[in-house]
Amino acid sequence: MKADVLVIGSGIAGLVFSLKIARFASVAIITKKGRVDSSTNYAQGGIAAVFGRDDSFALHFQDTLAAGAGLCHSDVVRVLVQEGPERVRELIDWGARFTRNAEALSLGREGGHSRRRIVRADDLTGREIERALLAAAAASPNIAVYEDHAALDLVTVGVGKESRCCGAVVLPATGESYLIHARAVLLATGGCGQVYRHTTNPPVATGDGIAMAYRAGPHIANLEFMQFHPTALYPADGDTTLLISEAVRGEGGTLLRANGQPLMEHLHALGSLAPRDIVARAIDQEMKQSGSSHVLLDCTSISPTEVRSRFPNILRETAARGIDMLSEPLPVVPAAHYACGGVLTDTRGQTTLPALFAAGETACTGVHGANRLASNSLLEAIVFAHRAAVRVREELCRPAPSVDEEPGPIPEETSSARTLISIRDEVRDMMWRDVGIVRNDADLAAAEARLNDLVAVSGDAGLTQEEAELRNLVLAASLIVRCARARVESRGLHFNQDHPRRDNEGFLRDTVIVQ
Ligand code: FAD
Ligand code: SIN
Repeated sequence: MKADVLVIGSGIAGLVFSLKIARFASVAIITKKGRVDSSTNYAQGGIAAVFGRDDSFALHFQDTLAAGAGLCHSDVVRVLVQEGPERVRELIDWGARFTRNAEALSLGREGGHSRRRIVRADDLTGREIERALLAAAAASPNIAVYEDHAALDLVTVGVGKESRCCGAVVLPATGESYLIHARAVLLATGGCGQVYRHTTNPPVATGDGIAMAYRAGPHIANLEFMQFHPTALYPADGDTTLLISEAVRGEGGTLLRANGQPLMEHLHALGSLAPRDIVARAIDQEMKQSGSSHVLLDCTSISPTEVRSRFPNILRETAARGIDMLSEPLPVVPAAHYACGGVLTDTRGQTTLPALFAAGETACTGVHGANRLASNSLLEAIVFAHRAAVRVREELCRPAPSVDEEPGPIPEETSSARTLISIRDEVRDMMWRDVGIVRNDADLAAAEARLNDLVAVSGDAGLTQEEAELRNLVLAASLIVRCARARVESRGLHFNQDHPRRDNEGFLRDTVIVQ
């Protein structure tokens, strides 16, 4: 099968990119489950962008850099904040209905933001965006969406510097794997939260894009910076856990110890709304010291009217689990939430492998540095998906490269990957325990040794979708640990007890992994 452009993933990054490409070329979107199955569909708080009268690009820029703990690329952050509002307006043009006051967008507040700047659709922002983008995609004759089609591996032609991506091997839920040829490929496969036992991410977030990219050759960066969201509902519900949006703390929700005492009051000037890494570490420490399984989030200072109008989904979902957040505190724990690192790209989505682009959570653009500012990820996805589309358009205007070269071999079937299924739980538990919010050298070394063994037994192809995901999950975990071991300091989301200080002499740079 052939398309001008192949897009892997149907979240916000894949859809925005596709809608732009479809104006001049044909797009095949493959997505491994249903088209709505994505982190995008679960995003609660909203999209950060400068719309407030008291806000400015300079303030959004500063807040983003402050969160990023010295590693944000300032040129890329400038692009993000300056182009953000125009891209949000495009979402509105595609039909996204954001919550409004009388005449303007109603802006929420989240941790690390010095102004109200979170554009939202109640507390179901992602669902509204996904709905609007999928409807727009369905109306485009140039876009074909293939559900239940998992990309197994990227395919390249040429060798060395001449090597470029020319498509992907795809496995439909029913039937044999086959090759989709394309002149450009966008990886928009989202994050890898499922690598951890407790996560806010949906089951599709198994790090496939990072793993496929690593196997094909482009550089990967900064995977040690896994963001743990401080407030996921306890107990976890199956593989994923309900997120309690940071916007709840933005409106006055307060973190308490399990015994009811305030938790953050004396730990940070911003109290419960301190940056996420600080809050998550404080909760982790409190749980370890007190032996409690969770802490509490008290929302009773927010008026019931406000809770009902502002957080209808969280109110409904917690009530369905038997908790009345209007009158009792919510039990919460941190959970793996967002990968700040990923496949390294330039400001136009180009990876280090020609004709392969990446956008959204799977990419590492340089925006987030060592810690992502809340609600900057949906923004990053739309800004850089747009830029990648402009770049791909230039690419398609050039004469097509000669096709006399055969694509690289499609990997042979092996059965050893089947053994991976039995170790999925082991990996997720180990990552949670040894490569979690607080790390140390011995645990990281042990995790690396175990993961090396597991990567070595994983086969290449002839896999079921589930086996392919497991293979990717193990590889993504091992890349996280490699990055974490390479950073011999503590910065942003990466905290190593054996090296508790920031080392600007040695580590004021990205951690780049080359295959
Ligand atoms: P996704 O939306 O995750 O889409 C990835 C797509 O790739 C999916 O369709 C998936 O099925 C597909 N895929 C994966 N692997 C394969 C494969 N091998 N083959 C084919 N398809 C594949 N960010 C904010 O900015 N604001 C928020 O308020 C916010 N709230 C969040 C709340 C929750 C609960 C979660 C989990 C995340 C939240 N985030 C938020 C983060 C944000 O939602 C994500 O970073 C963003 O949606 C990622 O978009 P994406 O397009 O990169 O990936
Ligand atoms: C939230 O609503 O707390 C999530 C926001 C984000 O992850 O950016």
